[in-house]
Amino acid sequence: MLQKPRGTRDFLPEEMEQRREIEMRMRSVAQNWGYREICTPTFETQELYTIRSGEGIINEMYVFEDKGGRKLALRPEGTAAVLRMYVNEAKVLSKPVRWCYLSDCYRYERPQKGRYRQFWQFGAEQIGADTPAGEAEIILLAYEILKATGVRFTFHIGHLAPMKHLLSDLSDVHRKDIMALLDKKNFDGLQKYLEEINAESLFASLKSLLECRTIDEALKICGDMPDKERMCELIKILDSQNIEYRLNLGIVRGLDYYTGMVFEGFADNLGAENQIIGGGSYRLAHLFGGEDVASCGFGIGFDRVMVSIGEFNPQKPPLVSVVYTPDVSDFSFSIAKIFREAGITTELNLLERGIGAQMKHAAKTADYAVVIGKREAKSGKITLKDMKSGEQKELSADSAISVIRGVK
Ligand code: HAM
Repeated sequence: MLQKPRGTRDFLPEEMEQRREIEMRMRSVAQNWGYREICTPTFETQELYTIRSGEGIINEMYVFEDKGGRKLALRPEGTAAVLRMYVNEAKVLSKPVRWCYLSDCYRYERPQKGRYRQFWQFGAEQIGADTPAGEAEIILLAYEILKATGVRFTFHIGHLAPMKHLLSDLSDVHRKDIMALLDKKNFDGLQKYLEEINAESLFASLKSLLECRTIDEALKICGDMPDKERMCELIKILDSQNIEYRLNLGIVRGLDYYTGMVFEGFADNLGAENQIIGGGSYRLAHLFGGEDVASCGFGIGFDRVMVSIGEFNPQKPPLVSVVYTPDVSDFSFSIAKIFREAGITTELNLLERGIGAQMKHAAKTADYAVVIGKREAKSGKITLKDMKSGEQKELSADSAISVIRGVK
């Protein structure tokens, strides 16, 4: 028996129905905020990802050469492609551009619960605002979308400015190394590294920065610093909207394109892979041949949200099973058409079994059976059976449709 590739999943109809319900809730909140849905290709040129992150990223991606020798990659995330598309197609649009997407993404990772090689992200990108209001909007939108799904989560909001300020005397390489250690919360490694580069005095201030729970505490450590007003304005807007979050100035984010505001969200009931959202402010358009435009956005780990919510029964429209004898198949097909045109989900029995066997099948799968035999075909009426109550009535197709609509 052939198996699916490692790190991928099959979704049966019950699971797809739950996923579609949650997708629908996410889309409708995004739409309500003016974020319009877009779609980019599943694969892009490798360069789109290496241009910012370097060749190292290739190890973490699904990469291949096509028959024309072009180096391509399955997208590992949504943002780079969205900004490429913006540069290609939409530079002339009035700013800010507000877009959202639901994309399958591919990463060559070691699969475990909540970590897959194919997974889905619901993302939003806001291009060209470059204001604290724009950043606040993205955070508030993310918060509302997650709330609409019913997932229980904790939000951490941070800003790179204080950390960058503390590390401003160091070289780019040292700064990057330190931020990578902080990202991994490897404090022993950090202390060792700081000793090696003769900057051990920074350890205490970095640790206190990570413990700050208010922006005032952070300003006491950092003093005057670039982006101070902008950061304070962002926090002021967020606080005015009463969202629950924790200030976390230790958020560094693995993707190295963030420039200022950064945020992450964690599901309350998941284990190691509990991060369900990551986002922040960044600049990418100039790398793809566009003008340097400030953007911000987020990616929600759709699959992790689904794991966190757990199974549920989405509201389903009633299902009708048409049970008929082969001699009245034409009439039965026509009745099924009338029901479908009325918006009712209708299945015909296809196995040419006796009425009894068909009714047994209908009892397992359908809310109503529409029974059609010679007598019904002659009178033009049908017999409608409610599979839950067992009640049955001979009715015209129109009256049967009203009964079905009235009940559910
Ligand atoms: P990211 O943090 O790499 O950010 O991914 C966003 C979310 O995708 C994660 O928080 C996680 O929930 C989910 N995720 C990542 N890898 C996997 C995996 N292997 N299996 C299941 N879920 C996964 C980004 O991708 C940025 N593009 C976010 C962004 C948008 N920043 C600005 N705009």
